[in-house]
Amino acid sequence: MSSSSPHGSTSSQTMSARALLPTLLLLVAAAAATAARAGAPARPLAGGWFPIRNVSDPHIQELGGWAVTEHVRLANDGLRFGEVTSGEQQVVSGMNYRLVLDATDADGKLAAYGAFVYEQSWTNTRELVSFASAD
Ligand SMILES: *[C@@H]1O[C@H](CO)[C@@H](O)[C@H](O)[C@H]1NC(C)=O
Repeated sequence: MSSSSPHGSTSSQTMSARALLPTLLLLVAAAAATAARAGAPARPLAGGWFPIRNVSDPHIQELGGWAVTEHVRLANDGLRFGEVTSGEQQVVSGMNYRLVLDATDADGKLAAYGAFVYEQSWTNTRELVSFASAD
């Protein structure tokens, strides 16, 4: 057979240039979308994260308990809330909380967990963004 020669380098370069073009267009579109979001007045820029100075604050403890209840509603693993031991918060359109809390699992083992909670108090919105073992 005479058609068994491999593709030349010119041919493969043409191929990769063709493959690259849609990628470049995607990047341009993504950059434009990001710029549009950044310019939207309805979304204030998020501030930095600050340590929660007093985790004994009843609101913080209640939030930690709510996070465990919400986690159990989704995972049904029988986890029981102990207390929030530390955390950070970030002002957004509302507040983000990264809480470290103690909880007891179904086997009675006490362990630390990390809960990310978003709260917008004036719309009664709470969202458990993530919940995971902190070990
Ligand atoms: C922390 O908050 C609790 C509950 O509101 C309060 O009793 C305690 O005095 C506070 N501790 C400090 C150091 O502010």
